[in-house]
Amino acid sequence: MPQLWPQTLGPVICVVGARPNFMKMAPILRAFAANTPAIPTLLVHTGQHYDRDMSDKLFEDLRLPRPDINLEVGSGSHAVQTAEVMRRFEPVLDEHKPSCILVVGDVNSTLACTLVGVKKGIPVVHVEAGLRSYDRAMPEEINRVLTDQVADLLYTTERSAADNLAREGIAGDRIRFVGNVMIDSLLSNRAVARQPADTLKAAGIDPVILDTDHGYGVVTMHRPSNVDHPEVLQSLLGVLREISLSLPLVFALHPRTKGNIERFGLESLIDRERMIILPPQGYLEMLGLMAGARIVLTDSGGLQEETTALGIPCLTLRENTERPITVEQGTNTMVGRDVEAIRHHAAETLAGRSKSGRTPELWDGHAAERIAADLAAWLMARQS
Ligand code: UD1
Repeated sequence: MPQLWPQTLGPVICVVGARPNFMKMAPILRAFAANTPAIPTLLVHTGQHYDRDMSDKLFEDLRLPRPDINLEVGSGSHAVQTAEVMRRFEPVLDEHKPSCILVVGDVNSTLACTLVGVKKGIPVVHVEAGLRSYDRAMPEEINRVLTDQVADLLYTTERSAADNLAREGIAGDRIRFVGNVMIDSLLSNRAVARQPADTLKAAGIDPVILDTDHGYGVVTMHRPSNVDHPEVLQSLLGVLREISLSLPLVFALHPRTKGNIERFGLESLIDRERMIILPPQGYLEMLGLMAGARIVLTDSGGLQEETTALGIPCLTLRENTERPITVEQGTNTMVGRDVEAIRHHAAETLAGRSKSGRTPELWDGHAAERIAADLAAWLMARQS
């Protein structure tokens, strides 16, 4: 392979839009810069997430460079958000003539940029391809299925992804099992994660509540299916309040959840002595909180994987997961919205009867390097 990137090949446009994209893109950009030859990139932020808490702070924590271009689409309905990203992304392609577009994950920006790219005949590369919850009520599932169907190259995090893709008629030569870039981020930041006590102090909360003898749990919830219906949110907050009597719980509250707790008048379910409400946390704060926790309760996709990599018990407040390896090999247990199951598994975990788990194959901190080497070779081979 040549030592310099061929002049005839344009940059790789790397797309981020929402919070869970940032920790996936950071190691990819570093690996592209370190590859021989270095792969030129242009970082495009669609602006789907725009708050300091949801975006800028994570850029700093993850040492992501400032985006070259910010499309500043902001919030909106799915249709509006997707359409705005598409409309604003197209001229970027006309101007910069990329060799390919790299998208990660399953947010609206992932699908929107994929559609624009493939229709202009520009190759699209999807990192974290092939994950399926088989629940089409989830917007992310629609984004995954459609992105994978039309993207040219599909990098996967676990072997089951290739079976899912085969079921959808996707040829095996488009699929490469490379491991998990999000775990690259986790392993490279583990040593500099922020201490939980410092995170609480910074939020003006006395860290004594973390209970050095018995520890604490961490909660995140933001899925529309859990937080958009008053009765569901009420029952989840109710069981979390019960659990908090045995173990103080630290909530990192997504703006959607915070808004709905207020809108539905559920603030009284928060026991301020035992349930610590924080705004969305930075990457290093969240990593430190998770790593020190006795249990994590979440509906996030990313936290299911991160807790498996950290060996921390995770109860997932969903009926299904697109990341089955975290259940089969990791520390994840699916508990859905079933209050009885949540209560039971939380009690088991606190009694020391939780899954120990092991690290899945290729979650070794080097996934982004494998993508860089493979993508450079693929782009050069296409050119010749
Ligand atoms: C999006 C992703 C989801 C991901 C989540 C992580 C899709 C379909 N969903 O969901 O997969 O797990 O991000 O957070 O792409 N808001 C702010 N500040 C922001 C961004 C959003 O206050 O910076 C508020 C807005 O009121 C907005 C709401 O949060 O309406 C939801 O944001 P949106 O980007 O539509 O979806 P998420 O629920 O964050």
